[in-house]
Parts: sequence; C-alpha cells; structure tokens
Amino acid sequence: MDKSEKLALGLSGLLLVIFFGAIMYAAVAKDIDVPTCITDMDPFTTDTLFQTAPDTYELQMVARMWAFQPSTVRLPVGSTVDLYVTSQDIIHGFKIEQHNVNLMAVPGAINYIRVRFDRPGEYMFACHEFCGAAHHTMAGRFIIEEGLDEPETEEEI
Ligand code: CUA
Repeated sequence: MDKSEKLALGLSGLLLVIFFGAIMYAAVAKDIDVPTCITDMDPFTTDTLFQTAPDTYELQMVARMWAFQPSTVRLPVGSTVDLYVTSQDIIHGFKIEQHNVNLMAVPGAINYIRVRFDRPGEYMFACHEFCGAAHHTMAGRFIIEEGLDEPETEEEI
C-alpha cells in the first residue's frame, strides 16, 4: 500500500473515532436527547397536563392552524416536562426559546422530548414551520414560577 493511501486510511479512521466520541460526549456528558417519534400511542386530539412524579409532568400539546393548545403553561421552577406534540391538520413546528427543544408537529404522529425548566421566567414557544396565513401568530408561552403549587394551562381561542 502506498504511503499516502495509508495516511488517508489512518485519517479516516481517526475521524470516525472523533465523530463517535463527539456523539458519546453529547449523549452522556451533555445529556442531549434527540426528539423521538412515538409509535405506541394514539394521536390525541386535546391537550393534557398531569403530574407523573415529584417535579415531573407530562404535557400533551396539540398544534393546529394557527394556535397551540394549550397556549400558556404555568409550571414551578425545577419542573421536568415530558412533552408530546402532535398536529390536528398540517405540519407545524414547535420550538421553545432558551431551551434545546425543536420538534415538528405532524398530523397522525407524536413527537416526544424531555425538557427541564431550571430558571424562573417566561419562555415563548412558537411554530417554526411555515403553515399558512397566520403562521406568524402561532405561539404561546411557558411561565415558570417560584413556589407555584398548582401547575395549569390556559387556552386562547
Ligand atoms: Cu404552524 Cu407555522
């Protein structure tokens, strides 16, 4: 084998090791999850918020032209949310500011990600997939409060 071939082969092997290391670093050290498509759950048609463990909630979010249901979600600081997103009509997007959440809302399918709210404040979520005339109005917010006893959701129709 030619010397330059050996070098190219060695470098490609090294690149594979670096890429694999980067994936493991993101998954283990940084605890970064990729969004998951849920296949063992029927698409829901209405929103739900309930507690599944101390400081842990399940939120089922419905997207449709041109609103999210619920549009406001109040949670205590330190909440972990198992977030399920689906759509009632066409494909929408779902992104939460200052959090590593970027999902698609797809009719007939459910996408899942876990998100944690460590700091108090208001965090907007918005549709990031162009979905028609009022796409730019399709947004809502998480309100994260200290000492909140009763998490709740609100609708704006
Ligand atoms: Cu829904 Cu853009």
